[in-house]
This record gives sequence, C-alpha cells and structure tokens, in this order.
Amino acid sequence: MLDITALFKLSYGIYLITAHDGDKNAGCLVNTVFQITAEPVRVGVSVSKENQTHCYIRAGGTIAVNVVDEKAASPLLGKFGYRTGRDIDKFAETKCHKDIHGDMYIDEGVVSQFSCKVVKEVDMDTHTIFICDVVDSNIVCDGAPMTYNYYREVKKLQSSKFAPTYVNLAKH
Ligand SMILES: Cc1cc2nc3c(=O)[nH]c(=O)nc-3n(C[C@H](O)[C@H](O)[C@H](O)COP(=O)(O)O)c2cc1C
Repeated sequence: MLDITALFKLSYGIYLITAHDGDKNAGCLVNTVFQITAEPVRVGVSVSKENQTHCYIRAGGTIAVNVVDEKAASPLLGKFGYRTGRDIDKFAETKCHKDIHGDMYIDEGVVSQFSCKVVKEVDMDTHTIFICDVVDSNIVCDGAPMTYNYYREVKKLQSSKFAPTYVNLAKH
C-alpha cells in the first residue's frame, strides 16, 4: 500500500531559478534543487515541461539558482510560484541583475546565489531533471534559507500542481 502522506516527511528548500533565451528572461519557484556531487560541484533540479522556464533552460543551457530567505516577501514568492512568464513580466518590478551567463540574480529576499551550466538532462515524462555544474556563486546575506516546511507551516502558502512534490489528495 502506498501511503502518500509518508512522502510529506521529506524535507526541501525553496529556490527561485532563472534562465534566459537571448535577451528574454524566465524564472520560477522550485523546491527541488539538490546537490549531487562535491567534485565537481554539481546540482540537479526537476522542472515541469509546462513551465516557461523549462523552454528557456533548454534554449540557454544555463540556470541561476537564488536560495530564498525566510524573510522573503510573499508577493515575490507568489509572482514566481503561481504566475507564468507567458502572462506577466516577472522581472519588471523585481530588483535583479544578470549573472555571468545572463541569467537573473534576484537582489531581494535571497541569501545566496549560484550560476549553473546544464551538463545533462534526464527526461522524467512530466518533468526534466536538469543536472548542472555550479561555476560561480556568492553569499548575499547571513539570513536563514527558507525550508518547504516553513513555506507551508509559517507562511501558510500552498504548493503548485507543477511542483514534482504536488499531491492531489482526491486521487489517494
Ligand atoms: C512551493 C512551490 C514549489 C514548486 N516547485 C516546483 C518545482 O520543483 N519544479 C517545477 O517545475 N515547478 C515548481 N513549482 C511551480 C512553478 O513555480 C510554477 O508552475 C510557475 O508558475 C512556473 O512559471 P513559468 O511558467 O514562468 O516558468 C513550484 C511552485 C510552488 C508554489
């Protein structure tokens, strides 16, 4: 028997990933950035094929990861986590600057940032796991990184159907 609530006990962080296609930028909220190896410094992230950000990662071959601060404002998280860049310009009123690849580093509500080059894609049907080498990084401030548990229990915010960890309880 599969008790899906057992998976609720998995721990995650909260991240804003960004990507670019020429002069255009995309970005979304994810909870699935994880480190894979130390040498080389390599991370993975699972991205829904429905997200605009997926197309931009494919086009540019790079990703910037912004590690979200516990103190980040809810509207910033809402804009990146529940809206699509196909409908709004997520960067118009967001303080940000470009990293070494041309992906956006967010200047508000983040504790650290790293620039990643995609080295492999793993097709997972609804999602692609992008495996990336981290080629540049910096600490923004000494605040606490937001956990997924904090996002749900303290911020009282909800997941998205495009998150790989989304659970439709009606099906279980
Ligand atoms: C808490 C939370 C976690 C999320 N985690 C992921 C994730 O790990 N991977 C993913 O592809 N989408 C995830 N999403 C969904 C995207 O952030 C969302 O679909 C976004 O609107 C996509 O924007 P875009 O179309 O501009 O790329 C998450 C959303 C929330 C609110």
